[in-house]
Amino acid sequence: MKIIRASVPAKAILFGEHFVVYGKRALATAINRRLEVVVSSREKSGYHVKIANIPTFGLQLNLEHEKVGREAYLYKDYDNASKAIAYVKKTIDYLEENYEIGGKGVELEINSEIPLSAGLGSSAATCVATIAALKEYFDVATDLEGIRKDAHSVEKAVQGNASPVDTAISTYGGYVLVEDAEVKRLPLAELDLIVGTIGSIPLSMDITKTAEISLKTKTIVEAVKARRESFSSIFGHIFDAADELTAQALIALERKDFATLGALMNVNHGLLDAIGVVPRRLSELVKRSQESGALGAKVTGAGGLDAMGGVGSVLVLPGEQKDRIKVALEMAGALALDVKTGETGLKVEQFV
Ligand code: PMV
Repeated sequence: MKIIRASVPAKAILFGEHFVVYGKRALATAINRRLEVVVSSREKSGYHVKIANIPTFGLQLNLEHEKVGREAYLYKDYDNASKAIAYVKKTIDYLEENYEIGGKGVELEINSEIPLSAGLGSSAATCVATIAALKEYFDVATDLEGIRKDAHSVEKAVQGNASPVDTAISTYGGYVLVEDAEVKRLPLAELDLIVGTIGSIPLSMDITKTAEISLKTKTIVEAVKARRESFSSIFGHIFDAADELTAQALIALERKDFATLGALMNVNHGLLDAIGVVPRRLSELVKRSQESGALGAKVTGAGGLDAMGGVGSVLVLPGEQKDRIKVALEMAGALALDVKTGETGLKVEQFV
């Protein structure tokens, strides 16, 4: 039996999230948490998708996807589940539309160390690994750039305005600079960072909102768009400042000037607050890290909204105070993860 395993890293945006959606520069890195998709055959036709070990809200989904004719799909596991796995469904639909795949039953198992909806690129990772595994399984000739482009198309289809950052990092690993929507890979030194993640929704929040949270990035990107339209002349300056900030951060990183790098993270955080993507719980994580001696701290990825439970992640450059900062983050209710930057990109293995 042919079995394909594709594994990809999580990403952390160091500088420029949100601003990159409008063509400004952003710098991102792969981090050492991975997601894998294992594809094998199944007797029945159609796709059986099993999502295991996604470290979020203790949620596990088991989804039956059976194809009935070309257009009709029957999902046996239910409204919320199919929203939460929008990226998997869209990926399968996209591949079937664009390539010669299908015709035999497929078992698809996703195992992840990447918290969902935490700004760590779990959706892009899911798309890249699913595309790579299915293309390999169905012997579709491809290269990394083809996989990256496919995954970016799927992300855009689900989320609207997706930049190429996440899919580039999942595919290539290392560091990438996105400039004018072009992706450039950069050879930069490894950094030790802390990611602080708020993954639990408050008890006071309506439990049916968890499915919406899986599409949090889309909601937040739309909220930023609306604000930008209301305050266009002011936002123009903020967006230009963010672009310049990424350029200076890159120089600081190349020089290993960590004090400047940290200070620029703090400024970037302020700009993200200005565009409305810093909920109270993430703001608190950044403040606690800063007062515990971090060189810099900021929201990373889409950020969050108080109305969506304030879930999301922060990135901390700890300097000498790693342990103290981790305790401070944990006391504020976050999961504190030690991460290393520059992780390897997509790996595809075949077992027979
Ligand atoms: O939170 P994430 O991992 O979905 O990252 C979103 C990053 C944004 O810049 C807000 C959107 C994008 O497509 O780049």
